[in-house]
Amino acid sequence: MKTLKIAAIPGDGIGKEVVPAAIDVLNTISEIHGGLKFEFTEFPWSCEYYLEHGDMMPKDGLDILQSFDSIFLGAVGNQHLVPDHVSLWGLLIKIRREFEQTINIRPAKVIKGIRSPLLNPKDFDLIVVRENSEGEYSEIGGKIYRGEDEIAIQNAVFSRKGTERAMRYAFELASRRKKHVTSATKSNGIVYSMPFWDSVFKEVSKDYPDISTDHQHIDALSAFFVTQPDKFDVIVASNLFGDILTDLGAAIMGSIGIAPAANINVNGKYPSMFEPVHGSAPDIFGKGIANPMGQIWTAKMMLDHFGEEELGTTLLDVVESVTNDGFLTPDIGGQYTTKEVTDEIINRLKTFK
Ligand code: NAD
Ligand code: IPM
Ligand code: MN
Repeated sequence: MKTLKIAAIPGDGIGKEVVPAAIDVLNTISEIHGGLKFEFTEFPWSCEYYLEHGDMMPKDGLDILQSFDSIFLGAVGNQHLVPDHVSLWGLLIKIRREFEQTINIRPAKVIKGIRSPLLNPKDFDLIVVRENSEGEYSEIGGKIYRGEDEIAIQNAVFSRKGTERAMRYAFELASRRKKHVTSATKSNGIVYSMPFWDSVFKEVSKDYPDISTDHQHIDALSAFFVTQPDKFDVIVASNLFGDILTDLGAAIMGSIGIAPAANINVNGKYPSMFEPVHGSAPDIFGKGIANPMGQIWTAKMMLDHFGEEELGTTLLDVVESVTNDGFLTPDIGGQYTTKEVTDEIINRLKTFK
C-alpha cells in the first residue's frame, strides 16, 4: 500500500469549497484503486487565521509542511480582512519560494462539453511553464517620498540559473509533446531582463536540436493565443507574463474555474504544491456554485506527479464525460452546484471501466 501524506490548505473564499470537493474525489480514487491511500491533514491558514494570530501561518509552518509528500492548496486572499500583498506573501508566495517551487506548470486545453470563446477550440492544447520564483515578483525596490514627485520603484530579478531552469524544463516537457517551445519575451521594450532572457533561450535551445522554437513578444503572443492557437505547444514565460497568459488560457478553456496548476520543486528537497490558477472568488463565495473542476484537475496533476498517470488520466476522462453530459456550474453556462458536479464525478468514478 502506497500512502501519500498531503497537507491540505483550503485558504480563503471558494478554496474552502473546492478543496473539500477535490479531497472527496481523491478519496474515492483511493477506494477504487486499493493500493493507494491519501492521508490528509488540514491546516486553517488563511486571512481569518491572520486576524487571530497576526500571521498567515505559524512560525514553524514550513517545518510542519516539510514532513508532507505534497501540499494541496485552494486559494489565498480576502482583501476585506488583510491586504493582498500581505496575505499572499505570507502564505502562497512564501511556500513557493521557501520550498524552491521554481516551476509552475499550467496546462490549458478545451475539453468536451465546455464552450470556449474560440472558433476552433480543438487547436488549443498547450502548457505554460511559468518561472515561479523570481522575475517581476520581487521585494526589491522602494518608495521615495517627495510630494508630487513621489516615486515607487520595483526591480525585477532574472538570474541565469532561474531563467535557464525554467527554459530547460520547458524543452524537456516539449520533447514529450509536440516538440515546440515558444519563448514569451518583450525585448523590444524592456532593455535588460528580456534581452538577457532571449540570449539564454537561444543558448539553451542549442542543446535541443530536435525541438523547434520561436519567440514572441508577450503582447503579440497574447493575441496569437486567440487567433492562432495551433501555433503553440509549450510556452516558457517569466513569472508575471506566465501569470497573465494563464488567466487568458483559462478564459479560452471556458472559465478560470477550470484551469489547473502545479508548483514544482524540481530538486526534490521540498514538497511540491498543487493549487489551481483561480483565486478565492469573493464574489461567489458561500453560494455553493464554485466550479470544482480547476481544483479536481489540479488533483490529477498531483496524481501524475506521484507517478499515478493512469489514475490521473482516468480522473480527467471522467471529468470530461461529466462536462460532456452537461453537468456544469454557472461560470460555464450551467445550473449545477459545486456539490452536484462533484457528486456526479464521484459516482462516475465508482463505475468507470
Ligand atoms: P479570482 O480568480 O478569485 O476571480 C476572478 C473571477 O473568476 C471572479 O468573477 C470569480 O467569481 C471567478 N472564478 C474564480 N474561480 C472560480 C471558480 N472555481 N468557479 C467559478 N468562478 C470562479 O481572481 P480575483 O478576483 O482577481 O482575486 C480574488 C482574490 O483571490 C484576491 O485576494 C486575489 O489576490 C486572490 N487570488 C489568489 C490566488 C491563489 O491563491 N492562487 C490566485 C488568484 C487570485
Ligand atoms: C496565481 C495568482 C498569484 C500569482 C497571486 C495571487 C499572487 O495570481 O497563482 O496565478 O500572481 O502568482
Ligand atoms: Mn494568477
